[in-house]
Amino acid sequence: MTIHKAVIPAAGLGTRFLPATKSTPKEMLPVVDKPAIQYVVEEAVKAGLDDVLLITGRSKRTLADHFDAVPELEAALEAKGDLERLAKVRESTELGHVHFVRQGQPKGLGHAVLQAKHHVGQEPFAVLLGDDLIDERDELLSTMLALQERTGGSVIALLEVPPAQISMYGCAAVEPFDGAADPDQVRITALVEKPPADEAPSNLAIIGRYVLHPAVFEVLENTAPGRGGEIQLTDALATLAGLPASEGGGVYGVVFRGRRYDTGDRLDYLKAVVQIAVDRPDLGPDFRAWLGEFSQTLSD
Ligand code: G1P
Repeated sequence: MTIHKAVIPAAGLGTRFLPATKSTPKEMLPVVDKPAIQYVVEEAVKAGLDDVLLITGRSKRTLADHFDAVPELEAALEAKGDLERLAKVRESTELGHVHFVRQGQPKGLGHAVLQAKHHVGQEPFAVLLGDDLIDERDELLSTMLALQERTGGSVIALLEVPPAQISMYGCAAVEPFDGAADPDQVRITALVEKPPADEAPSNLAIIGRYVLHPAVFEVLENTAPGRGGEIQLTDALATLAGLPASEGGGVYGVVFRGRRYDTGDRLDYLKAVVQIAVDRPDLGPDFRAWLGEFSQTLSD
């Protein structure tokens, strides 16, 4: 079965970005000139996922507006003959089918994903976290989709992080398995959400891309609140890792070695803007020249 649904949880409060996120969803913060969420939806669509469900919460109305048409603005640009800007306005509307459901109460990532149960039904689906941007030049989601189709289980994305940082992430214990396309494809033997560094089973952090077997919904319904009193997706995946394939079990990992930006972190956000801007054909040449001069002033 070809996977074509993506779920993007976007109900978080964005407290790391206050005061910018007091009245603007963090997903709408611009990375160069596009809101962060648009990069994520574009990544999903590029991987063939044309049905996107955003899990939102209160004060997230601008997210829905962003994926809708703006007739007055479009008419004004058309009248002026500004077709370039008109295309930019329409880009987000033409990205496939974007649906919305609200989480109601902020009970954690696992609870957010559970809100997609009705929309997703009995098919495998992808989950993309809005804070994690994967550079569009680096391959990840399509590799994960192919691995899910091959194994029939669930697949998570992993990143090697310095051991001191593992307590900020879900952490995976892994082993090789027959049928892996390369050594960066592994089987998950255990998962733990945000372990203290000295209890972490590895330095492999879960990053925000998942391809899940629909059995995850029933597991989530029976998952008790975990770290932080929240229903954790990591805990549900730990359960799935221990279930037989006949019950939708088996969890695999793809170790990602490309560029990933955590736009939920202020320093990483700044790095993301700079790294994406220097490679933009329209802004890159001028920005690079300025950045070179500017960095000279820093070393003086
Ligand atoms: C969530 C997950 C965590 C994962 C992280 C990736 O945590 O719970 O397992 O490592 O996303 O970004 P959050 O960053 O929402 O606290």
